[in-house]
Formats: sequence, C-alpha cells, structure tokens
Amino acid sequence: MIKKTIVAGLVLLNFCIFTSKADNLIYMDKKQPIEKRVEDLLNRMTLEEKVGQMNQFVGLEHMRGAESNLSEEELKNNTANAFYPGVTSFDVERWTQEGLIGSFLHVVTIKETNYLQSLAMKSRLKIPLIIGIDAIHGNANAPDNTVYPTNIGLACSFDTTMAYTIAHQTAKEMRSMNLHWTFNPNVEVARDPRWGRVGETFGEDPYLVEKMGVATTQGYQGNFGPNDVLACIKHFVAGSEAINGANAAPADLSERTLREVFFPPFKAGVDAGAGTLMTAHNEVNGIPAHENEWLMEDVLRKEWNFKGFIVSDWMDIEHLYDMQHTATSLKEAFFQSIMAGMDMHMHGVYWNEYVCELVKEGRIQMSRIDESVRRILYAKFKLGLFDLDTYCDPEASMKVRLCEEHRQTALNAARNSIVLLTNNGILPLDEKKYKKVMITGINANDQNIMGDWTALQNDENVITVLDGLKMVAKNTDITFVDQGWDPRNMDPAKVDEAVRKAKDADLNIVIAGEYMMRFRWSERTGGEDTDRSDINLVGLQQELIEKIKASGKPTVVVLISGRPLGVEWIAENVDALINAWEPGMYGGQAIAEILYGLVNPSAKLAVTIPRHVGQIQLVYNHKPSLSFHGYKLSENTPLFPFGYGLSYTKYQYGIIKLDKQEITENESVKVSIPVTNVGDREGTEIVQLYIRDEFSSVTRPVKELKDFTKVALAPGETKIVEFTITNDKLRFLGKRLDQMIEPGTFKVMAGSSSKDEDLKTAVFTLK
Ligand code: BGC
Repeated sequence: MIKKTIVAGLVLLNFCIFTSKADNLIYMDKKQPIEKRVEDLLNRMTLEEKVGQMNQFVGLEHMRGAESNLSEEELKNNTANAFYPGVTSFDVERWTQEGLIGSFLHVVTIKETNYLQSLAMKSRLKIPLIIGIDAIHGNANAPDNTVYPTNIGLACSFDTTMAYTIAHQTAKEMRSMNLHWTFNPNVEVARDPRWGRVGETFGEDPYLVEKMGVATTQGYQGNFGPNDVLACIKHFVAGSEAINGANAAPADLSERTLREVFFPPFKAGVDAGAGTLMTAHNEVNGIPAHENEWLMEDVLRKEWNFKGFIVSDWMDIEHLYDMQHTATSLKEAFFQSIMAGMDMHMHGVYWNEYVCELVKEGRIQMSRIDESVRRILYAKFKLGLFDLDTYCDPEASMKVRLCEEHRQTALNAARNSIVLLTNNGILPLDEKKYKKVMITGINANDQNIMGDWTALQNDENVITVLDGLKMVAKNTDITFVDQGWDPRNMDPAKVDEAVRKAKDADLNIVIAGEYMMRFRWSERTGGEDTDRSDINLVGLQQELIEKIKASGKPTVVVLISGRPLGVEWIAENVDALINAWEPGMYGGQAIAEILYGLVNPSAKLAVTIPRHVGQIQLVYNHKPSLSFHGYKLSENTPLFPFGYGLSYTKYQYGIIKLDKQEITENESVKVSIPVTNVGDREGTEIVQLYIRDEFSSVTRPVKELKDFTKVALAPGETKIVEFTITNDKLRFLGKRLDQMIEPGTFKVMAGSSSKDEDLKTAVFTLK
C-alpha cells in the first residue's frame, strides 16, 4: 500500500514550491518542444510521483459498483469482485490528488472523467491523467456511443478506408468524453476458433490483419490533434494461439512461426507509429510475455525501434507471481516485468510501494524508471493533455456521439461486412412470394448483435434483426417467436412453438449464434474468456433449425457470432446461410437489407470456417504437406475457405497477365486481370492476389495473400484490376531466420477466394 502519511507531507511541501513558480514552468509552456517539456517535468518529479505515472487504476464508479455489493470485511479480503482489497474508492481519489496515479481505465461517463481530472489538477505538478478504454468497435463500452461491427466483420469487408474512418470517428467520440487512449487494434492473427476472442481480431491472415491494423491505428491517432486518441496494438504476442484455444494459456510456437505469422502485424503497427502496445496474458515458449525481455527489449525496441510505451494487460504482472510462478513474490514480479521492459501497470495497489522500494534498494536504477516515465509523459504531451481544456462539455459531446455521419458509417460498415455463405437462389427474398414470414432464434431481437466489448445501449439506437425486417419488409406478415437471449437455457416449448408456426409460414428465418453481451459476463458463450472445446451451436439451436427445416418450408439461417461456427449440416441443408458476425448497432437493418436485396452482399471471409473442431488450423496459407495423408473418415477441405463469399450477381475473371516473365531482384511484376460483372445487378467484388514460391530452401505456404482491392461493377461492366508485385512480397525467412529472396519460379494467383478453383494463375521467374 502507498505510505500515506509521508507522501501527504511531501505533497504539501512540494505544492508550496510548485505554486510559487507556476507561471514560468518550461513544461507548462506549449511553445517549448515536447522533449524539453518532458525533461523539465521529469526533473521536478519525486520518485513516488514517477512510479505513480507508471500505474493505472479502474474508475471510481467501477470500484464503487463492487463496494456497494460487498461488506467492508469482504472488501478487505475479496480479490475476485473488489479489485483492490482493503482499499476504497476514497483512497484512490486521494492518491489521484496526490499525483500518485498516472492513468485510469474503465471510466464510462463524462461526469467521472472530468471529476478524475479535477482531482489530478489538485496535485502538485498537475499532470493530467491519461484515461484508457476498450473502444474496440466504437466507444461501445460507454453508453450512447456509435457501435460499429467488430473487427472480424470489418476485416471481411477488406475495406481499409472504412477501418480508418471508424477509428477516426471513434476517436472523436472518445475525446468528446475526455477519453484519450483505446486498447485497440487487436492485431493478433486468429487461427483457432475455440478462442473466444476471434471477433475482436482481423482474422487469420497476417497481411490482411496488418493492413486493417495499420489503417485502424492511423485512424485513431491521426496527427495527435484534439480529436485523436492513442492506439494500443495488442496483445504481444500469440495469445490467439494458446494451447487448447484457451485465453491466457501457454503459447508454444517456433520463432519462425512467430516471425512469419504473428509478428508482422505488430511490426507494421510500430512502423505506423502506434503509441502504445499491450503485452499478452500468456507465456511464449516458456517465458511469460510480461517479463519477456526478448520480446519487449530485443524485438520491439531494438529491432523495430518502438518508441511508444508498453502497458501490461489486466493484473498480468501479478500473475507472474500468483499463476505463472516465475516470481516468488509480488514485488519480484514487478521487478521482473520492469527489468524486461514494461512501462505501465494495469492496474492497482502495491505497485507504488514495491517499485519505490526496489529503487531505494538499488535493484532498479532511477534511470530505468525515468525511461518509462519519459515515454508516458511524452504521450500525454503529444495528445495535448497539458495544453487543451482539461474538462469536456457533456452537451458538446452529445453532438459528436451518435451523430448522423457516424450512424451512417456504422450502417454502411455492417452492410459491407456480412458474408453470404450459401444461397440456393432463394435470396434475395421476394415479398410477393413469401407473404408470411416467421422469424425466431436467440439473436432475432436482442442487442447482442452488437457483439463483445459493448455495454447495454439505449434501445432506440439499436436496430435488431426483427426491427430491420419490419422496416424493410413492410408488406410482409411477420410472426416472431421469441427464444430468449440465452442459448444455454432455451425453452423446449418455445422451440416447439416455432416449429408449429414454421408450418404456417411461407418462409422461416432463424437468427442463431452465440451470446456476447458483457453485462451478463458469466452467461456468455462468445467473446473474451469464453473459450470453447467445440464450435457447434450451443443449446437447442441446432435442433430448432433442423426441426424448422423439416417443416418443409424454406429456411434461411443467419449467424451472429465473433468466432467461426461449425455449421456443416446447416450449410448443406438450409436454403441460404449468412454469417453476419457481430454487425453492430445497425446490424439488424443491414441483415434485412441483404435478405431482401436492397443491398448486394460483398464481404469475404477473413477467416476459414472449419466443418468441426477437429479441423482447426486448416488455414488457407498452410504448408504443402498438410493433407498428404488427410483424414480417414472426414473431409480435408474446410466448410468455407478464407476469402470466400457470395454475391447476388456473378463475376467472371478473364486471363491473368504479367508484364514480365522474368525479373531480377530489384524489378517488380505488374499483374492485370479483367473482372466482368456477368449478372444483372451491380455489385462490388473483392479481388485477391496470392503468391506461391514454388521451390524454396525452407517450406513455404501453398499460397499467401499479397494484395487485394475492391471493384464496383455495373451489370455487364468489365474492369481491369492491376497489382504490382514488389520484391518485398517475395521475401521469406531462410534457414537461419534471415530475410531472403531466392531465385526460382513464383506462381501468381488472382481471383475471388483462396480456393484453387476460384483463382487464375500465371508464373514468373526470379533470376
Ligand atoms: C484484456 C485486454 C483489455 C483489458 C482492459 C483484459 O482482460 O485482455 O484486451 O484491454 O482487459 O479491459
């Protein structure tokens, strides 16, 4: 615990010194260069104040929520619900006033962000707080903000401009609430759908993740103006491929796989100037990420020249002691993490006290503390926290949040992220043909369509699928059978009711999937900390769909989920299947518009959909020998491959051409391919470029995505799509993990999905 009395005395003394000189302080002078301001401030700080800048706390209301449910005795001893045993929100308020806390997280109202800053303004040096939040797809954890589709859906749009715009708008909404730092983008490559967090990633392909991650980072950070926020690339590294698909379980991956698959999006984020990075819950090859000097110092700082600050994940430094056992005490855990390169502790007590002791004992040099504080202060200056208004105005904020432009972006993003997986011709639906429609399923009329990392929003701002159908199919007689929101507790009587009503309808729509809403933390089946040992539909959902299909009436299924689900029977038996992912607050409208053909679907899968859990790791960019022997009793192909998605029109690809058949190392190859819309309605096609190094000294994937573009085509229209293959697209890691390009032949593939049948090929040789 912080030594309260000594610190209080110091604060009083220093306050007097500070106020007498306040007018001509270099660090308060916005005309001075940031570096000079940082050094000036650093020189004025006590050890306690420096260590406080390296510490974060959850918001007061968050704490009080726990306090109000627990007795004082319970509070002292309970680490599960009350985050800070023995500490009350009043202690945290006092420490903020004493300048002993640098950052907060999980603050969701302007009242509180302003209040916390007012406390910081009472401190000796008046260092503003940096307040962080998980604004993963809009600032959705706070009420009354625009909620866009989650990252996995956004990735399926292959639309980096959209990713930039969403991040930019999110930043504006955040800053209007006095929030400065988002814990996004999550740039982990997700190849295991058992892991509950696939929805917050950009999928399985390093190149696509990299492009979406960079656009998102740039959208948040802009030029660090008053409407921009700090981005946080996370989680470094490989938490997405932990053993058993379980969040925080150990990851054991070769350095080759780390460098080829998991590092590139982080490296690209660093190059794009990401201001912060969060380490992963898990250990990596035996060393916890939170004390991994190789990752933090050697790779990030020395190899990649990362200039921002590193923040720990939620109490993970503590876990070095209480779970991973590399540290014999909490103090030792803090020591290990700081010495490995950590800058900020998320979050809580004991940090200030132990870290100060470690410095006084000479185990951590003051210069090491200064390095971290310098990075944190630099970010605060860069964001303008010392120079702009300390407080924000709730009225002005509500003009930014949920403004028409942002709502429109959320709707367009949803329209572009929904993937049509199967369609026997039933879609788009004809209102004249299907006059009576029954809609059912756990996601038919629930805010859950917004996905993980979302607080309950005002109902008026969310269009559920039922709402959307009513808006779009105005002349249809719609019957809704409510299955409740909870897939694990479905009522068999409600299933029977839906089946009965299915027989009377002309068409049935089932909105199935998972449950992700955070306010019912322990009931969720998808999202953070909801890893699963299978990927089937939970509860009676499969039975519901099978029985409705057996009614003999046409059946359409829409999935709402962050992770891919193993829906082989459904894909093969229902009339149409749509994967809407977590489409955000206007998801219901976008789904209805696609069902009725007001919008032509264009999204393509950013992740492979396996048939079942045994097929996990059947990623498209696998090595050539993967299916040499194959499975005995089941298919070797996934249910749907990466890059796949249908449209209501048809595209035809012409002959692929290369401008050269032979190149030298410094030359590039221009690829062109004509794409024609041969259907009768306009559409947008996502054209994908893959490359295969045919023979190489180390094994290479059967294909790797190297570029993509979106083309809008009117019926009958042809456009020539062009790509340039520069030599960086041919590089790989040699036997000694050195970057190299080898002479030989390269296969170029361009087309509509990663499936061989969907690609046109050509070959060139590197001399
Ligand atoms: C998650 C992080 C998140 C943090 C703060 C952790 O549980 O792993 O991704 O940023 O909580 O909410």
